[in-house]
Amino acid sequence: MKEMPVPVAAGSRQQSAQAPAFPAQREEQNPRGLGVRFQAGRLYALRAAVAAHGMRLGLTGAPLGTLLVVATELATNVIRHGGGEGSLRLYREGEFVACEVKDRGPGIANPDMAGSAQVAPTAGEGRGLWIVRQFTSDLRIDSSPSGTTITAMLPANRPAEQDA
Ligand SMILES: Nc1ncnc2c1ncn2[C@@H]1O[C@H](COP(=O)(O)OP(=O)(O)O)[C@@H](O)[C@H]1O
Ligand SMILES: [Mg+2]
Repeated sequence: MKEMPVPVAAGSRQQSAQAPAFPAQREEQNPRGLGVRFQAGRLYALRAAVAAHGMRLGLTGAPLGTLLVVATELATNVIRHGGGEGSLRLYREGEFVACEVKDRGPGIANPDMAGSAQVAPTAGEGRGLWIVRQFTSDLRIDSSPSGTTITAMLPANRPAEQDA
């Protein structure tokens, strides 16, 4: 049976033979952050977790909507092009909220150029990464034949919440 994605509680260490390692140190430094595995059919749960943690990390209103668009496009790409399953992390980095999406798929052929050209309005697909770039002041794409990690930096519009 396939393992269901489970949000990783702040500060906890997920030990699983299949799970990609989320560096514990980073979670401890970002106690409101999120580390979650996802797969096809579970995007609703992923989006709910991203919305909740995005708010705690300092996004509200339209910027929170932007985070949901970015996370959805990157996660959809993992499902369609990146091997079907992956992991998503959210964490605060200074004045930014970072959304990192990782897979172990075949990689992107030309990562530096991916999403840099606007796609014709009549095209049915191929604009996801372009949209992500429009919303992101800093987009890091690290891709090789053994996988892709994309990190989108989104400016926070309020301080991160304090832990209860
Ligand atoms: N995680 C990924 N792994 C492998 N290839 C990817 C990944 N994300 C994007 N790509 C490649 O980049 C292309 C552009 O992605 P995108 O702009 O989201 O358009 P679309 O998903 O509609 O094709 C994809 O068609 C695919 O070839
Ligand atoms: Mg796409």
